[in-house]
Amino acid sequence: MSSISIIGLGNMAGVLAGRALAGGNTVEIIGRDPAKAKDLAAALGGGATAGTFGTAPAGDIVILAVPNASAVPVVAQYGNALAGKVIIDITNPVNAEATGLVTPDGTSAAQEIVKAAPASAHVVKAFNTVFGHVLAPGRSLDVFFAGDDAPAKASVSAFIESLGLRPLDAGGLEMAHWLEGAGLLMISLARHGVGDFNFSLGVTPFS
Ligand SMILES: NC(=O)c1ccc[n+]([C@@H]2O[C@H](COP(=O)([O-])OP(=O)(O)OC[C@H]3O[C@@H](n4cnc5c(N)ncnc54)[C@H](OP(=O)(O)O)[C@@H]3O)[C@@H](O)[C@H]2O)c1
Repeated sequence: MSSISIIGLGNMAGVLAGRALAGGNTVEIIGRDPAKAKDLAAALGGGATAGTFGTAPAGDIVILAVPNASAVPVVAQYGNALAGKVIIDITNPVNAEATGLVTPDGTSAAQEIVKAAPASAHVVKAFNTVFGHVLAPGRSLDVFFAGDDAPAKASVSAFIESLGLRPLDAGGLEMAHWLEGAGLLMISLARHGVGDFNFSLGVTPFS
């Protein structure tokens, strides 16, 4: 089981924290509003604790559950407090109309986070292709992830499995751009052909 710190107090933070606790992981909740973080930790129960924003997180894995625009500033603000951590980037860097990515071609939100993080931290892209409310009921879904550090990927893969979800390795961190494109595709499908957000993206093997 893993020790997890989650930065952010919104939808994804609550859903991932709930499933992480149910999977036997330890969970620390961190937000810029300490009272709100304490309230969320208490509401989650299961031994969840509230950490202090900007200081070294307790978890070996740190989930960045903040909007894309806040991700790099938050990582930069943490600085060396994230040394040695596995950072999971769940952000979807989509524009307001959800017609494109706000990151330039040739990079990704995850790769921009790498530039802001300490050299000893390892960034893994994961969970951005899963809608939070679809995760909530405890379904088994596919979670695509990408990263460059094999041990960091192994720990994220084990964490995803502990949530009762299927981890699918999409390759190196250069694939984060395409996972972010898949997140954009999901929003566009929801607005067009599917017609709602109650679906998931997965792989169906035929062998
Ligand atoms: N919702 C989904 O289904 C879904 C699915 C996949 C990926 N994602 C991605 O997951 C991330 C979080 O989404 P969400 O739906 O959970 O958003 P949300 O409900 O709006 O929550 C965002 C949280 O980030 C915090 N935050 C924002 N700026 C911050 C800063 N500078 N420092 C510290 N905390 C900051 C907010 O803090 P306050 O509470 O203090 O305002 C809030 O708790 C986004 O990047 C999104 O693209 C979302």
